[in-house]
Amino acid sequence: MAEQSGDPTSPDHPDGLAGGGGLATGPIGPETVGDDTDVVETRLRAVIAAARHHGIDLDRHDFRQAAADTVPAPAALVEWLRNAGLWAKATRLRWRDLVKFTNAAPVVLLFRDGSAGLLIQGEAKRDIVWIKDPRAAAADPPVAVDRLRLEQVWGGEVLLVRRARGAEQEDSPFTLGWLMRLVLTERPILRNLGFSSVALSFLSIVPPLLVMVVINQVVVHRNMSTLTMITMILLIAVVFETLLSFARRELVLVLSARIDTVLNLHVFNRLLALPLDFFERNQAGKTTYEVSQIMYIREFITGRMMTTLLDLVTLLIMVPVLFMISATLTWFVIAGSVVVALVIAAFLPALRVLTGKVIQAESAKGSVMVETVYGIRTVKSLALEQSRKDLWDERVADAATLRLKSGRLARWPMAISLPVERFIERGILLIGAYMILTGASEVDVGALIAFMLLGARVAQPLISMAHLAEEFEQVNASVAIVGNVLNQPPETRGADRGLRPRFEGAISFSDVTFTYPLSRQPALEDLTFEVPAGSTLGVVGRSGSGKSTVTRLLQAINRDYTGFIKIDGVDLREINLTHLRRSFGVVLQDNFLFRGSVRDNIIANRPGLTLDDVVRASRMAGAEEFIERLPQGYDTWIEEGSPNLSGGQKQRLAIARAIISDPRILILDEATSALDPESEALVNANLARLAKGRTMIVVSHRLSSLVDCDAILVLDRGKVVDLGPHKALVERSSIYRQLWLQQNRHLDPQGRSAPGPILAQGDD
Ligand SMILES: Nc1ncnc2c1ncn2[C@@H]1O[C@H](COP(=O)(O)OP(=O)(O)OP(=O)(O)O)[C@@H](O)[C@H]1O
Ligand SMILES: [Mg+2]
Repeated sequence: MAEQSGDPTSPDHPDGLAGGGGLATGPIGPETVGDDTDVVETRLRAVIAAARHHGIDLDRHDFRQAAADTVPAPAALVEWLRNAGLWAKATRLRWRDLVKFTNAAPVVLLFRDGSAGLLIQGEAKRDIVWIKDPRAAAADPPVAVDRLRLEQVWGGEVLLVRRARGAEQEDSPFTLGWLMRLVLTERPILRNLGFSSVALSFLSIVPPLLVMVVINQVVVHRNMSTLTMITMILLIAVVFETLLSFARRELVLVLSARIDTVLNLHVFNRLLALPLDFFERNQAGKTTYEVSQIMYIREFITGRMMTTLLDLVTLLIMVPVLFMISATLTWFVIAGSVVVALVIAAFLPALRVLTGKVIQAESAKGSVMVETVYGIRTVKSLALEQSRKDLWDERVADAATLRLKSGRLARWPMAISLPVERFIERGILLIGAYMILTGASEVDVGALIAFMLLGARVAQPLISMAHLAEEFEQVNASVAIVGNVLNQPPETRGADRGLRPRFEGAISFSDVTFTYPLSRQPALEDLTFEVPAGSTLGVVGRSGSGKSTVTRLLQAINRDYTGFIKIDGVDLREINLTHLRRSFGVVLQDNFLFRGSVRDNIIANRPGLTLDDVVRASRMAGAEEFIERLPQGYDTWIEEGSPNLSGGQKQRLAIARAIISDPRILILDEATSALDPESEALVNANLARLAKGRTMIVVSHRLSSLVDCDAILVLDRGKVVDLGPHKALVERSSIYRQLWLQQNRHLDPQGRSAPGPILAQGDD
């Protein structure tokens, strides 16, 4: 029955959605449809409310959109939710899906006019749904809406929001057990695989049994009608077998593809979640090689293991049939298979050791290759080709020797078990014939032939199971290797933890002491200083004095410090890591540019940024003039490692990339050190503009680029020596004065530097 929607059954709240109009008067959602920003606001609020239901506070400012009055696209909303660590999906539902909806989490209904409502619950019995206006107070109850009313404003678009599922699965360590659980999640496919295998096994029993009948009945008794019938049955069996195995192959393919996809996604997620520390400690080549081992594991699971398990099904069905034909012969088959298994088992421990060594050698070999390719510039320019070749030769030889050795060892179980396998295939015939000759009533000619045909199918799975154990060792080693990378403690567990405050940009360090892992001396000791929001802090000090470490701690790249680092009074450890890093813009001395156009590199896949933003950021970074001179302007293609750009151009692109999202805090760590004086002057001239409205930390060897900073922090061996503006420091700090005089000998200490002295000096 259609409910009178303006009169919700909820007695204490007759008033519908915001504005008092309720549903009876028109669109659900804001009644001010003409006002676009209001519509947008409603939609965003609906999403925020849906996220809050899962305990996550979305920051309104994290959502990027082209303009304030364009309707937020479902895809952009999904992205926003996913970034906050939720599971979200934009999809279409029908009315009958809505009414079946029980009060789990709210669903965001996206209305045609760009606004939205929150579906709280459906009531199939009365054919109504309960909807809440996102702008209503939290305590306000939802309103009942019938189909007619809703479909006036709603075309089926919804946004489903959930807590990210599978988080536990993702957090648990990578082991073989984990992989098995992954395979088992594909239950429907596995079930169908099981069914088809059982059916196929039965089908494969039929022909040998019929052969038995043909020989015993048809040939011996010359029975034509039986032959015709048997021919028909065989034909039908062949048709079924063909269809079934065709279908089964499809299932295996789908299963492999799915497992492959999940594994790949998972591995990459895990890899990206590892702290920077890990990548600094481990060679890129080694890590890449180790992670790529996952391929073998997947191949094993969906290849050898799957076929063997399916064969096992066949085995379980066939063994009873064999026993029916001849128990004695069946025992011979089983005994033979057991012997093969025992032989392989005897060699397993030795094989395991060798396999481990082979994999290690392969990994060492692989890392030489990857490292050489990564460092090819250095290899070429220092003419290191020969020494790299020597190293490669050595590793190749090691790997080859070990492979040979393990192959030789693996030959033995094969050699020993081969006669046994042949016995199962052919010896059984002889024993059967002997039994017939000596008049054992158990076997006749037909049965013997049927047994021959079936026996091979039983022995094969038994033997391949034994071989499976051998391969299993290899896979286990691979799992350990991949786990060695993936089971490192990640930087964060779940992107949804932590506060997401809106930063002003005030930074404070108090008693911060930090020692790098494996290092004996602290890189920073009892550091205490403050940077007011919106000001510029210069950081100077000798090489190794801890300047970069300060910026690393601030970005929470290293987190095992003692003391407190606060941004706007909030402890850094409490802040959501993704949110924190997004609030920073960082430019280093050497910045990596990805393959893609200039524009893509500056946007770097952040949603909601347009070419206008790119142009604005490039102008601020002093990059506009050279980009416009490039052959295709903003669409010029940059290769990996950007060989077609000069150092200064690269640097200015990196600055544009850092500031395009208008970060509250900008860190420049030796960003201009590698630049020629002209580019440096260009960037420095823009610094004041870059600094406007944000906190900026500029690390530089060149004091001349810091004289305008609100304060300069002087570090020495991880300790604060002094903090103050340039003028004060020149007067009171001897270290600073010394540095200044070294770099600007010809200037008076109070003076400002001109581009000249920068030219003259050449620090690292
Ligand atoms: N990843 C790391 N692992 C171990 N020790 C490190 C690491 N990075 C830096 N250190 C050590 O910490 C100390 C401070 O290094 P930091 O990089 O902060 O110096 P810096 O002032 O930035 O030097 P530079 O001017 O050369 O860039 C140095 O003694 C350095 O050896
Ligand atoms: Mg440094």
